[in-house]
Amino acid sequence: MQRSEHPLIDEAALQQRVAELAQEVRRAYPDALPLCLCVLKGSVFFAADFVRHLGPEVELDFIRARSYLGLHSSGTVALTHTPEADLRGRHLLVLEDIVDTGRSARVILDWLDAQAPASVRLCTLLDKPSRRELDVTPDFVGFSIPDAFVVGYGLDHNERYRALRAIYILEPPAKIS
Ligand code: IMP
Ligand code: MG
Repeated sequence: MQRSEHPLIDEAALQQRVAELAQEVRRAYPDALPLCLCVLKGSVFFAADFVRHLGPEVELDFIRARSYLGLHSSGTVALTHTPEADLRGRHLLVLEDIVDTGRSARVILDWLDAQAPASVRLCTLLDKPSRRELDVTPDFVGFSIPDAFVVGYGLDHNERYRALRAIYILEPPAKIS
């Protein structure tokens, strides 16, 4: 597998959309910013850029959900790190890199709901709605993309490609005939 030569979403488009998303979120929370929960590891670059657009008073914490093996979801999701902040009564905004089948988001949202927060909303940089298996509808979406495996800007394939500044489609090598 190798990444596409040209990005699906280039760096300028990513940066512009992340700034717009932050404005959408600001408008949705006129009184006080939500506690932002970055889902490790894929959302680190997105979360870092996003919260800096939200402003210096924003709080950031981390969740780790492990599920994905290679190109196919394993189907089971475990939370291997949960936030240190007390979530009771807080407005929470989950920052995901991508919502695919919806399994990871479902487990995260259900766990957060059980912590008695004031509210929970989901903001995802990328959405693959055609792949959805569970009823998960993100409240904020950066880009809706087709059913392709993508890497870059935090998204990996077997831990590689996270550091790319743009998002690329991972495709099989061209056949040599
Ligand atoms: P879901 O649980 O099937 O919605 O998958 C969510 C997780 O799978 C994401 O947080 C990613 O870690 C991973 N994932 C899904 N699609 C892709 C992709 O196209 N590229 C890289 N990782 C992906
Ligand atoms: Mg992930």
